[in-house]
Amino acid sequence: MTYKRYTVTAALPYANGPIHIGHLAGCYLPADIYVRYLRLKGEDVLFICGSDEHGVPITIKAKKEGITPQQVVDKYHEIMGGAFREFGVSFDIFSRTSSKTHHETASGFFKTLYDKGVFKEEVTEQYFDEKANQFLADRYIIGTCPKCGNENAYGDQCEKCGSSLNPTDLINPRSTLSGEKPVLKKTKNWFLPLDKMQPEIEAYIDSHKEWKPNVFGQCKSWLNSGLQPRAMTRDLDWGVKVPIEGAEGKVLYVWFDAPIGYISATKEYLSPAGRAGEGLWELYWKDKETKLVHFIGKDNIVFHCIIFPAMLMAEGSYILPDNVPANEFLNLEGDKISTSRNWAVWLHEYLIDFKDKQDTLRYTLCANAPETKDNDFTWKDFQAKNNNELVAILGNFINRTLVLTHKYYNGKVPDAMEYTKNDILLLEEISKFPERIASSIEHYRFREALAELMNLARAGNKYLADNEPWILIKTDEKRVQTIMNISLQIVANLTVLMEPFLPFTSKKLGAMLNLNPGLKWKDAARTDLLLVRHQINPASLLFDKIEEEAITAQVQKLADSKKMNETANKTIEPSKPETSFDDFNKMDIRIGTILEAERVPKTDKLLKLLIDTGIDKRIIVSGIAAYYKPEDIIGQQVSILVNLAPRKIKGIESKGMILMAENSAGELGFIMPNKPSMNNGDRIK
Ligand code: MF3
Ligand code: ZN
Repeated sequence: MTYKRYTVTAALPYANGPIHIGHLAGCYLPADIYVRYLRLKGEDVLFICGSDEHGVPITIKAKKEGITPQQVVDKYHEIMGGAFREFGVSFDIFSRTSSKTHHETASGFFKTLYDKGVFKEEVTEQYFDEKANQFLADRYIIGTCPKCGNENAYGDQCEKCGSSLNPTDLINPRSTLSGEKPVLKKTKNWFLPLDKMQPEIEAYIDSHKEWKPNVFGQCKSWLNSGLQPRAMTRDLDWGVKVPIEGAEGKVLYVWFDAPIGYISATKEYLSPAGRAGEGLWELYWKDKETKLVHFIGKDNIVFHCIIFPAMLMAEGSYILPDNVPANEFLNLEGDKISTSRNWAVWLHEYLIDFKDKQDTLRYTLCANAPETKDNDFTWKDFQAKNNNELVAILGNFINRTLVLTHKYYNGKVPDAMEYTKNDILLLEEISKFPERIASSIEHYRFREALAELMNLARAGNKYLADNEPWILIKTDEKRVQTIMNISLQIVANLTVLMEPFLPFTSKKLGAMLNLNPGLKWKDAARTDLLLVRHQINPASLLFDKIEEEAITAQVQKLADSKKMNETANKTIEPSKPETSFDDFNKMDIRIGTILEAERVPKTDKLLKLLIDTGIDKRIIVSGIAAYYKPEDIIGQQVSILVNLAPRKIKGIESKGMILMAENSAGELGFIMPNKPSMNNGDRIK
């Protein structure tokens, strides 16, 4: 089947945190490569994305940061949109589900299904947190997954086995708001009868045996265990209001409203209110000659392959997704990427640390994409891919070709005089690349496509190495012209073919070659893109080496975040029993200054200090030797409990105690007033 146009979506990321490399590798980068390729082919394509601003992840984040959900989504919508743009993810629109158009579209969609009598209205018992006075939908509740035993499955989904769940499926449920065991309470909700729709859904899935095995397999396994009705409304206050009577205080389920966000964004882009183009959006969602493709990560499969198609079927006027190429997960240095544990490479930080190196990350993530299984990102591999592949293969071939062209011909493309048999074989080979790469891309095999692109660069490198124009130039100038002409044609073809993967480099190279920017994918099958005597511009390096220090710094950054996280996760000691003011007042705490300090012989921990307390000068023995060197603390102001009964420590009489703060790692630090005007003997109370 050939299509007239494409609607390509990338999962709407939750606006509860910034974008990391796992998001990119799983969904946004393959989607962008696919779309850029389609555009180069001259296809009519729309690339849709936006922030997913409803749902429990947002309200949980708001609570944690002590701000409103609206403030959370405003903040992250901005950060995500900016980072995507700078990374060259070429969305036609990056919208958001808090927009007016979206609220209208989602509630209109619900109303249509409601009026058609699609929903099953039912009063059920749902978990309720009495302490927080709130129903516990979705991520407000965790417990043990009945399918795989994961103890931290969410109320809507187990992230370990991918099962879609209802809160009441969880074993040992507990509230993420209070940690309490929830109670059951009656409430009315509207259910999509997936059980009744199973035959239709099954027929749809079975008509897509071409889907990736991981996607098709997951769908079949859900179908085999029998679909259950699923509530499309929630007892929450953040979201799209349920547009019917008797549903006050309820909002649409986030997985009902979010995929409709693709539709709302299309409307906003093509048919903004009060402007021409009214109804144009429908072509991209309702015309049978439109191909609808959803790029997602594997945790989104059930929602895009079963629930959203079921909604579209029930509505009746929409086309269904033609493909849902979902990737597996990318790990980081052997560990699962996690926003809450800060175990991630954040895109907005990468863009600062590696300025103008968007293509290096695009290359690494694509070459390592978790297409068929989970994969690992390591900084070492990132460096190796840059230095050994981008610099040493692609960059090297291009640079040698351009530099020699300037050197021998002042940057004018030389004439190909006479082809050898090997030249002809190579030219034939070159002309096959566009189709080969295209076929990989059209089958969503982006790693393979990128590997083919590199093979073309390798072929170019080999051609130069085999023919050694830099030696021949002394004996056979005519032959060198042909060699350089062929090499330049390969460079020109690479410029076009690399665009989906390495758009920044392609643009730079296109400018160096003075290449017509309107070239299309099929042009790269030609071997005469650069005409004889065409003038190219000065050459500069496309890639440079990434040095050891840059990599060590990133590895250190991760180690720091692991350490911070471990410290933060240590439990805080509970408070001691209440004490009276009188008891507190018995303690005489003063400011003092350390006059002398020395280690107590034969101990690791102890320092013997001479302290001026303002009242007197006295000896105190303190267990701080692991944290302070004697020479560093002379003159240091400290706080001292001066009326503590004297004690003999290692034969030294210690009179009083230095007050110290101790963190969960057991490190000690002095407690000092934060005003310099405090003097020895001043009281602490
Ligand atoms: N916000 C979801 C996630 O990050 C994805 C939503 S995709 C949409 O997992 F289709 F619902 F928009
Ligand atoms: Zn599970």
